[in-house]
Amino acid sequence: MTLRFIRSGLSLMLAATAFQALAQDFPNRAMTMVMPYAAGGPGDTITRVFAGAMQKHLGQQIVVDNTAGASGSIGTAKVARAKPDGYTLLMIHVSHATNQAMYKSLPYHPVDDFEPIGRATSGPMVIVARNDFPAKNLNEFVAYVKGNSAKVSLAHAGVGSASHLCGLMMMNALNVKLNEIPYKGTGPALTDLMGGQVDILCDQTSGTVPSVKTGKIKAYASAGKNRLPQLPDVPAISDAGVEGFEINISFGLYAPKGTPKPVLDQLTGALQKSVSDPEVRQRLEAMGISAVGAELARPEALRAHLKNEIDTLGGLLIKAGVKAN
Ligand code: MLT
Repeated sequence: MTLRFIRSGLSLMLAATAFQALAQDFPNRAMTMVMPYAAGGPGDTITRVFAGAMQKHLGQQIVVDNTAGASGSIGTAKVARAKPDGYTLLMIHVSHATNQAMYKSLPYHPVDDFEPIGRATSGPMVIVARNDFPAKNLNEFVAYVKGNSAKVSLAHAGVGSASHLCGLMMMNALNVKLNEIPYKGTGPALTDLMGGQVDILCDQTSGTVPSVKTGKIKAYASAGKNRLPQLPDVPAISDAGVEGFEINISFGLYAPKGTPKPVLDQLTGALQKSVSDPEVRQRLEAMGISAVGAELARPEALRAHLKNEIDTLGGLLIKAGVKAN
């Protein structure tokens, strides 16, 4: 046997041993879960629920890192560049699919640069407004927006975000063009909505239901065909005859490409226990969000979901001629 062959055999063995050792005592220190939108928004709320639940099953603290900006692509790039050792994770939703269509040059590929761990949640969106918005009900809201579109400002969390997608669908359905005001997340957008600095927002219920219930903002409609059990008096947008407008937002968990399989398996296991945890399910239900079943908190399910969103929602944005840069 040549010396080179022996050396390459040895280096492979050493790598496999190091690989095994990493996986064997994982996790042995605090972990980071990156949420690529600002604190206080619906994504941040969901991330904190899962960081809290998963750290119980993994036995190490999970710190939430809100690295926001550029429709979630800054935080996502941070995870793509992180060491693939299982200590840096990404919690993200539809913008992982849409950013590829929105940005000419992303510093990562949403599929090639990540390992899917599993799906976490799915949930509806609701159209909300500042409390003194001049419409007493959904029909008046539709009439006012249609008749005053040049004056109405629409907040969202950046091109391709869930709130932007919902805003696009609403503008398409009402055939209007509103004044878009982008934020680093709908947490800050909600603050401006409560302060009256911006008029309307379509956001996930994990960011809005508590503020509607406490009367800080008002809700006109759920963005779909069905009312929300958490807001039973709020009609569905289809109740006003506005059709073809339904959106549901799912969050999923990723690790950087190259994270060892035994580590990924442990992370998937902790995610599955979290989505099955009655306390987690109850906390999310109260915000109108559903934890997925354990069978979807798996890599294959998230991989398939991401591919579907890239093919459908990415296409919708390209058709709408929406570009980020
Ligand atoms: C969005 O897509 O609108 C974001 O999820 C908002 C957020 O989480 O801040």
